[in-house]
Amino acid sequence: MTEADRLDTLLREHRIFPPDETFRAQANFKDESIYQSAAEDPEHYWAQQAQYLSWQQPFSKILEWEAPHAKWFSDGTLNAAYNAVDRHRETNRKNKAAIIWEGEPGDSKVFTYDMLGREVDKAAHMLRQLGVKKGDRVAIYLPMIPELPIAMLACAKVGAIHTVVFGGFSAASLKDRIVDADAKILITADAGWRRGGLVPLKQNADQAVVDTSVEKVVVVQRVGENAQSSMVEGRDVYWHELIATMPHTPFAPEPMNAEDTLFILYTSGTTGKPKGIVHSTAGYLVGANTSMRSVFDIKDEDVFWCTADIGWITGHTYIVYGPLSAGTTLVMYEGAPDWPNRHRFWEIIEKYGVTIFYTAPTSIRTFMKWGHDIPMGHDLSSLRLMGTVGEPINPEAWMWYHEYVGRGRCPIVDTWWQTETGCAMIAPLPGLLATKPGSATKAVPGISVDVVDENGQSVAPGHGGYLVITKPWPSMLRTVWRDDERFQKTYFGQLPGIYLPGDGAHLDEDQYIWILGRIDDVINVSGHRIGTMEVESALVDHPAVAEAAVIGRAHEVKGQAITAFVTVKEGVSTSDALIAELKQHVVEKIGAMARPEEILFAAELPKTRSAKIMRRLLRDIAEGRALGDTTTLADPSVVEALKSQYQDKE
Ligand code: PRX
Repeated sequence: MTEADRLDTLLREHRIFPPDETFRAQANFKDESIYQSAAEDPEHYWAQQAQYLSWQQPFSKILEWEAPHAKWFSDGTLNAAYNAVDRHRETNRKNKAAIIWEGEPGDSKVFTYDMLGREVDKAAHMLRQLGVKKGDRVAIYLPMIPELPIAMLACAKVGAIHTVVFGGFSAASLKDRIVDADAKILITADAGWRRGGLVPLKQNADQAVVDTSVEKVVVVQRVGENAQSSMVEGRDVYWHELIATMPHTPFAPEPMNAEDTLFILYTSGTTGKPKGIVHSTAGYLVGANTSMRSVFDIKDEDVFWCTADIGWITGHTYIVYGPLSAGTTLVMYEGAPDWPNRHRFWEIIEKYGVTIFYTAPTSIRTFMKWGHDIPMGHDLSSLRLMGTVGEPINPEAWMWYHEYVGRGRCPIVDTWWQTETGCAMIAPLPGLLATKPGSATKAVPGISVDVVDENGQSVAPGHGGYLVITKPWPSMLRTVWRDDERFQKTYFGQLPGIYLPGDGAHLDEDQYIWILGRIDDVINVSGHRIGTMEVESALVDHPAVAEAAVIGRAHEVKGQAITAFVTVKEGVSTSDALIAELKQHVVEKIGAMARPEEILFAAELPKTRSAKIMRRLLRDIAEGRALGDTTTLADPSVVEALKSQYQDKE
């Protein structure tokens, strides 16, 4: 849906769902005054929330803010793995299930907090033995298997910085991230399962580590014989072989300063080069932990399932650090929602008695397409709360989710946030706020957001503008890895001291926020952020391509789909075979999620007289709209030619 379409839809959306009284009565956050008190003294609010963590050395300072650099709790020390795992082993949660893991082929494993702790300790010993020291970077390229959170927590335990690379990224993308982070170790698997097929992680890893700082590759055996992976002598070691030789003694958690980096996670921006988003230890954990209690109303009896991949921020925060720091039982699933059939997700909810379910609008729209008979055929009565994340949810999808999954009983928390924000920022507290389908509602306590015009002035209710975050918050990114200038320019370059997320938003008469989508050259395909420049660079990298322009167009299920307009070099003839080759080239350069939905050849791209590609016009063409203003074009006939070509295709 385009921004204009979305605005149009939401202006017609007047349904409202007040919080359920029974839910409210049992909610962690049931006193409305929290919004006001946190707004009046956010530092006090966050200092209180920080008490839910275990500190080695308690903090006395709360916030030091030299815009745009924030330090939170900076004289405190703590360890993230201790907070996520070990502290629960010292309580009656010791034998509580921490991770209920289900593999795609149907295998499963349960780790209690104590068992998880022992695995993390062994992995921490292993990292130490491999020479990993505090502050070293460890790259992790794994499928959704238990070794993934174990490896992350082991890094946290020894004080190393993990950088997880989503298993869907190509060898080239993995290499870029390894090089940028200067990683010493890579942890990968022989292969991963996806819809019964194999993802050749080790083969990609072999290509990626050539000429990098990686000294050792640790290989988890997930698939075994059929994986077609080989080991490089002296460089590669099997996880299970090394782990088997590790001492069974506890590993003392490395005391980390609150501001020490916990992890780097790469995300797309407006240039071709992904940004290494840097998160701190304490602030990030405080944000993750607080939102589990506030937005997700977490209780000891809950079974929490976030369907994201840990390779994205949603998985970092709501599969690993949030749920575990709150002592939650979480479900982790390795595979696809339609493997071996379209009942898989609902079967998982039934089987494990999932109480809180968190997924993406794109998944909901896929489920809608498959038909409501599928969820309706299952007993989902264990559910009590549901969430969405990753992209704007259209009111129809919200209503479908509410009706056929939540059976009209479960509050829905639409959570707006980003890799950079660390945790949910705009979302209803389910016991306190009425929800409106399609709106992420209001900022959570302790977070100050606004919608402003180009001059930074707040817009009046009923108007739209740029979403901004006006005060620092604990889980905000600290910088862009080794590129502080980019950090300052990207996020604080427009309005001094004010964080600009890059989203457009509309403020309604009740001060509710409706996110309209990205206002920069970033597109959101199935909840995955992809920079148009990255895809353009990948296309131009192909020998046949002279120039490429990439846009996101509205797509019924994916939210947005990638359309690429390409001009070829002289002498190259265009064909369907070339289209297929170019799509494959993008997959190899970036990963399958960046595969263009369609590629159109153009004799020329529409440019202004100053040679800027007019993407707006390309979007109009791809979305079949009347063309906007073409008077600034150097050659107006270019778009007419493109338009008729696009229509022919349809
Ligand atoms: O455009 C917003 C959209 O996803 C972007 C952040 O992407 P990423 O860093 O990959 O993190 C995704 C998961 C936290 C945002 O700038 N977005 C995320 N959640 C929502 C959303 N748009 C509308 N509503 C949401 N709930």
